[in-house]
This record gives sequence, C-alpha cells and structure tokens, in this order.
Amino acid sequence: MLSPIELIIKKRTGKELSSYELDFLVNSYIDNKLPDYQMAAFLMAVFFQGMNDREIQYLTEAYIQSGNKYFFDKQTVDKHSTGGIGDKVSLMLAPIVAECGAYIPMISGRGLGHTGGTLDKLESIKGFKTDLSQEEFRNTVETVGFSIISQSNELVPADKKIYALRDVSGTVESLPLITASILSKKIAEGAKNLVIDLKVGTGAFISNIDQGNELGRLLKSTSEALGQKTEIVLSNMNSPLGYYVGNGVEVYEAIQYLKGKKIPDLDELTKHLAVKMLILSKNFDSEQEAKRNIDKAITSGKALERFARFIKAQGGDDKVCEKPQLLPQAKYILPIKAKETGWVRSIDGRNIGYSLMHIDSGRKNLDSIIDHSTGIKIKPKVGDYINKNDIIGKVFCNNKEKGTQTANIVTSSYFISENKVSLEKIILKNHRGEHENNNFNQ
Ligand code: URA
Repeated sequence: MLSPIELIIKKRTGKELSSYELDFLVNSYIDNKLPDYQMAAFLMAVFFQGMNDREIQYLTEAYIQSGNKYFFDKQTVDKHSTGGIGDKVSLMLAPIVAECGAYIPMISGRGLGHTGGTLDKLESIKGFKTDLSQEEFRNTVETVGFSIISQSNELVPADKKIYALRDVSGTVESLPLITASILSKKIAEGAKNLVIDLKVGTGAFISNIDQGNELGRLLKSTSEALGQKTEIVLSNMNSPLGYYVGNGVEVYEAIQYLKGKKIPDLDELTKHLAVKMLILSKNFDSEQEAKRNIDKAITSGKALERFARFIKAQGGDDKVCEKPQLLPQAKYILPIKAKETGWVRSIDGRNIGYSLMHIDSGRKNLDSIIDHSTGIKIKPKVGDYINKNDIIGKVFCNNKEKGTQTANIVTSSYFISENKVSLEKIILKNHRGEHENNNFNQ
C-alpha cells in the first residue's frame, strides 16, 4: 500500500514519481481518501521541485482517466488560452471557426488566480448552462458547431478538484500543473487538434519569454505524446486584451466585436488563432483562404447568429445578442483617472485582475455567488500616451466605496515613462528567445 506522506516527501526531495504513484495520488484525492492538506502539500512540492516530461505525461493521463473521454466522428479542433486579463477570445473565436466549418468541443475553465474564466463570463447570460450532459454536449457540437462546458464529475473530475485547490494554495504558476490541467481537458473533450494561446506578460501566469518557451515545449510534447496535433502561439499579455475586464462586460465586448466593432488587439489575436485552427483542422489549405472566410463570417453577421444559437442551445437568453442591456447591469459607473502624464511603460495586469475582487467578492471565495455586473473598462495600452487626470477608464460597480478602491488600484497599476515607449505587438515569435517586443523581462 502506498503512503501519501512518503510520496509527498519523495517529490519534496526532487525524486521522480512513477505513473502508478501519480495515479494513486490523483485517484485517492478524487475518492476523498486524500485530504486537501495532503494534496496541497504535494502540489507545493511539485511547485518547487518541478516534474520531468515523463511525470507530466503520467499526471496528465491520471487526470484524463479520472473521468470519461469523448470521441467525435468529425475533424475537431479547439483553442486553449493559458489565462490572462480581458481574454474573451473564445467567445468570438468559437462561433467564427464553427461558421467556417470546423467542430469545436470546448471544455473551459473558471477564473484562476487573477485571471477570469470563460465559464464565469458565459454564466453572466441569464439561464446559460455550462454543465451539459455528455449527450447535450455532443448534440450542441454537432448541430451548432461548438459547445463550451465545464469539467464535471464525468469529465476530468481530477482537474476540477485540483484546479480549485491550486487557486487557494498558491500553486497556480507551476508549469507541470498548468500542462496537466490544460491538456487533460483538451484531450478528454475529444479535440483532435489544438491551438494553444500561451500568454506571456504582466497579466499572465508566465511573465517572461523563456518560461513561455518552456511551457510551450512542455505543452506541445505532452499533447503530441498523447496523440493530439498541437500548435503553440505566444501572445502578449502586457496590456489587458480589448477594453473590458469582468464577466458581463466581456460578453458585451465579444458581441460588439461579432457585430463588426474594431478592437485592434482582440481582432488581430482572434483572427490569428482562427487561421491556425482552420489550417490545423484542414478546413482550408491556405492562410489566405482561411482569412477570407473568417472575415466573411464576421461581416455577414453569421458568426453572431451562430453565437446566439449556441447561447440558446445551452439554455441561455439569446436575446442578449440584440439587446446587450439584458446582461447584468451595475448600479454605478465611476471614472478611472490617470495619475501622471507620459507614455504607458507597463501595466500591472495581475493587480488589475485582483482589483476586481474589491468589487466582486465572489471571486475570492469558491462558494459565494459571483456578481456578473461588475467590471472595468480601460483604454490605454503599453506605448500609449496619456495626460494626468485624463479619464482612462470606468469601473462598473454596485458599491461606490469598493468601486473607488478598484479605480485607485487600476490607476496605480499604470507605470508611466517620460520617454517614448514603443507600442507592443500582440503576437510574439514562438521560437526560443526571439520576440519582437522591447518591453519584456524589464
Ligand atoms: N488554464 C487551465 O486550464 N489550467 C491552468 O492551470 C492554467 C490555465
């Protein structure tokens, strides 16, 4: 009989765990035989000691085997983001790519650490369900072209439970744990192809390009060892993505985008990922052809129509696409003012993510209800010029005192330079050490 304490100590002292030992830890935890404190100690040991490639593959397999594995008789493809601020890309990307002919079975996550989760955003739509049965998930993918659901007791329950524990035990930013968490969901859901949007920067879990390249290597080698074709895109998370951060307000922004509103960083990233997905899934042979079809999906309004069909299929009120005021509305809108004049040198995205907790206590405590009406809008990105006292954004809140605190945190998350700072590119070059931004690793 294996002893959890011995396995924790084995990892703590940097030794390799076998597939059998990792299965034992994961299975004992989901069967409630291993208490949270022992799993948290094990996660912290992994955090400090890391895992080799073999252990990461075994851990990913243990997560997958904790539940069912789905299979689709179609050319399936999915995208996963490693998490950032204002990242509502899935909400636009999935209907666009589905409109271009691909099938996307997507298991998504909730807010983790300072980052928001796609599921929380979708749940700001009245009636929307993320816990579909296997049959409902399959039907939605096959009829609408995509479905977005949560991990469940049937699907990667190990990630569901361990993800929540990492969130409260300071063990989120571990490359082996991130790899197993992402890939277990992406393999169990039945995606044959996968594009990973690996975010690097102040608002991401990965803050420097070397770590980004290492996580990219781990994700690609682990998923391909487990039979999934994978492409890694490194993208910039030094500035929040788009203008809105928060659940309901991000759904609002996604709908505006699908209606044709130009949001440059969001547009560039969404289309870049969409092209990669459509080439990987063999829907198109050339990038030009994929791009043409992506543009058509948006300008024809068909991607928005598909988003509405998806909302309806998952029990939500699809009228939000026509009437965004049906999304939860906050009582107050407070201004956010710049504290200095100059070029935005950097933005502490992590601080901004955590600042939302001041207006939304739900994100701090897994059991409390999230207030989907709260959020922020902020315009300046790294490299933009701002004047002291300019209104650089807004806070949407239901409590003025908390909203003011959030506005102050956002203001102080902007670092200003007297010298011109170059605007940053959203797509980073994804081979080792080569990137086009001046402002990384500062
Ligand atoms: N996304 C996930 O699904 N898991 C992580 O650990 C980080 C980002």
